[in-house]
This record gives sequence, structure tokens and C-alpha cells, in this order.
Amino acid sequence: MEFVDVVRRRRMVRDYDPHRPVPPEVIDRLMEHAIRAPSAGFSQGWAFLVLTEQADRELFWSASTPERPVGEPPASAAEEGQSKWLAGMRHAPLIIVPLSHRDAYLDRYAEPDKGWTDRDEARWPVPYWHIDTGFAALLILLTAVDEGLGACFFGIPPERTGAFRVAFDVPDPYTPVGAITVGYRAPDLRSPSSRRGRRPQEQVVHWGRWRTEADPALAGS
Ligand SMILES: Cc1cc2nc3c(=O)[nH]c(=O)nc-3n(C[C@H](O)[C@H](O)[C@H](O)COP(=O)(O)O)c2cc1C
Repeated sequence: MEFVDVVRRRRMVRDYDPHRPVPPEVIDRLMEHAIRAPSAGFSQGWAFLVLTEQADRELFWSASTPERPVGEPPASAAEEGQSKWLAGMRHAPLIIVPLSHRDAYLDRYAEPDKGWTDRDEARWPVPYWHIDTGFAALLILLTAVDEGLGACFFGIPPERTGAFRVAFDVPDPYTPVGAITVGYRAPDLRSPSSRRGRRPQEQVVHWGRWRTEADPALAGS
């Protein structure tokens, strides 16, 4: 597939054919591309938990999603949306959890060519460990499109991160930045967020100076 088509066709897919697993060689390509992501100081402080077995995926969903008493109807529109969302997402035959490893960055930047021996986190403009793991996640999303698959990146709620860690024996210095479901697409519900529409370049790109259309410097031009 042409790169431009990969980028344009990518969207988050929230339902999958539950009977069509992702072939192992395709999973391997997803991961091979993930580790081609750029990383500050080439720290590569990332890790990926790959769940293909049904029991493991069930464990993921039970650990990472909010509990609602069985048989009780949803209390709000948001809860109803969440339950429909979960029903589709649970069909995914593959879940990949990208985790960032802060200490790998602090260690790497304490090396002589960087020299940040105090390991002070205030030195970092933003936490590059999360950024780089996000870059890797995007490569997984794009590779999924190139392979004819659908995928969705989503967050693990902070109050469920502890349960997720315990369920999968994840060591403390690793933080799940989110999770990615992958599979062959089934008809799905678009997120209500998509109604917001894509913000055009004119709103987000600032040429030369930070001017907006409301800026008097542009009045009459
Ligand atoms: C950091 C991040 C967190 C997201 N969390 C969720 C989520 O929890 N559930 C979900 O369904 N989609 C989630 N999304 C997907 C966004 O809703 C989606 O990217 C956005 O609506 C634009 O749609 P598109 O990616 O299909 O073009 C997340 C995306 C990002 C980048």
C-alpha cells in the first residue's frame, strides 16, 4: 500500500472478526516496525506485552476495565457507550500493550556522552520515555493498516493500572502508555469524538510567528 494511503486510511477500529486470528508473521512485522521507532539517545526504553491467547485477553479486559455489577443496566449514556465499546473491542484477537521505561532514559542520559549524572527528571522538556513509546505505538497502528488490519489505541484507566500490573507481573519501572487492539475489521461504531471533525491546517499551523486569524496583525490581509 502507498504510504499516503496508509496514513489516510488509518482510523481507530473498535470491532473485529473474532474468528480470524492475526497470523504470527504479521504480529512479527508489527513488532519489527515498532522497534524501528526513534528514541531519545537511542534509549529504546520501551517494552511490549503481546496477548494472543483468549485467556490472557480475558484477563486483560477484566483487569483493565471498570467493573459493573453483572445484570445491572447501565446507569448513564456514557456507561451504555462504554459497554457497547467493550463488546466490540473484546472481539480483538490480539492486544499489544506498549510500556515506557523511564529508568532506561535516566540511565542512558547519565552516560558520559550525555552527562546528566544527577538523573534529575526536571532536565527533560517532556517525558521522552512516553513520547518514544507513543511513536512505537503509531508505527504499530500504521503497520496494521498496511497489513489490511484494523487497530485501536486506547487508555488504561489510572485506577486499573495496578490491577493490570499485578495480572501480568509487570515490574514497577514500566508504565503502560495505553493498549492497542488489533484484528480484521468488522463493522463498528465511530467514536462520538469523530463528530468534532478534523481541525484544518489554518487552525493549527503557525507560519513564521504565532498568529491566528483573530490576530490584529493579520487584519485586512
Ligand atoms: C492517547 C490516545 C488515547 C485514546 N484513548 C481512547 C480510548 O480510551 N478509547 C477509544 O475508543 N479511543 C481512544 N483513542 C482514539 C481517539 O478517540 C481517536 O484517535 C480520535 O477520535 C480520532 O479518530 P481516528 O484515530 O479514528 O482518526 C485514543 C487516542 C489517543 C491518541
